[in-house]
Amino acid sequence: MLTVDHAIDAEADRLLRALLHVDCDPGGKRWNYETCRQIAPLTLEINRLKAEKDAVILAHSYVEPEIIYGVADFRGDSYFLSLQAKKAQAKMIVFAGVVFMAETAKILSPAATVVVPDRASGCSLADSLTGAQLRQLKALHPEATVVCYINSTAEVKAESDVCVTSGNVYHIVAHLPARRILFVPDRLMGQNLRDELKRRGVDKEIITSDGTCMVHDRFEPADIAAARVRYPGLKVVVHPECTPEVAAVSDFVGSTGAMMKYVKTTGAPYYLMLTECGLVGRLQVESPEKAFIGGCRLCPYMKLNSLEKIREALLAPRPDQIITLDEGLRRRAAHSIERMFALSPTD
Ligand code: 13P
Ligand code: SF4
Repeated sequence: MLTVDHAIDAEADRLLRALLHVDCDPGGKRWNYETCRQIAPLTLEINRLKAEKDAVILAHSYVEPEIIYGVADFRGDSYFLSLQAKKAQAKMIVFAGVVFMAETAKILSPAATVVVPDRASGCSLADSLTGAQLRQLKALHPEATVVCYINSTAEVKAESDVCVTSGNVYHIVAHLPARRILFVPDRLMGQNLRDELKRRGVDKEIITSDGTCMVHDRFEPADIAAARVRYPGLKVVVHPECTPEVAAVSDFVGSTGAMMKYVKTTGAPYYLMLTECGLVGRLQVESPEKAFIGGCRLCPYMKLNSLEKIREALLAPRPDQIITLDEGLRRRAAHSIERMFALSPTD
């Protein structure tokens, strides 16, 4: 039988094998055997609690790498994680991400106890539009099909005809029968959608509300131009929450899942990832041979997640950590998400 010290040593080894290559932590945290050994008792305890409580941990790629590689059962983008939430058989789902993602999990798995490590983990997009504001917009455009980006509250989803993610937005909107689309709450993704549909020769009128992502709306085309001069052969990989001006001068635009796939399947000397820094950390772990340039931009909400808070939420969740939804609202919100699953591309 392993002694406690041996179990901690083995866990530290396991963590170090994954975290060794991560060097994009803005706090200057570098992973070595000592730092891995410090967190090993906590990851061991969380993994033991998961089994004891029949819990599953879903982690978005933007959260800290010790969560993603230390305790998460599933890691990925919003679409992948919603699918996992829908399929989950566990009694408890811990969502290491932001509140709208955990709400989506509760909508899809109502029997499970869904918890968030930190209730303050909002999102500048989801927080930009209430259900009441969307009802006012719908009254102005009664004939429009209402499409909500998944980065929205349960109330906004309940008011929408179909939900989309960054991974399926172009495909789903292109195939909707209506010409007039009310797309909420991301103005920039709405503009990118308009441009992409025009490129594809699809005739749609896209009306948007005024939200933006506080992380992605700050990237500028000038950053890209300067980087291309300095790094010949550079590939610029962009999330569709960036401005259309940035998207226009990039090499690839897609969801965080698609961005990872693009990097893994192309052979450029350098990559500039215009998204939250956590994604670069994931790529440094999973594609350590690739070179990434550029600074680090953080989502303050995603960074509220921590191993300590996950432990608390598993052990004895506080009321503010538990997601609750009115059943009528949940059912209406589920309709728009189920419609997304039905209309999503299959590959
Ligand atoms: P993805 O679904 O592409 O991971 O995007 C989620 C998000 O919040 C991006 O800012
Ligand atoms: Fe919301 Fe932007 Fe953070 Fe994504 S990165 S969760 S869109 S604030």
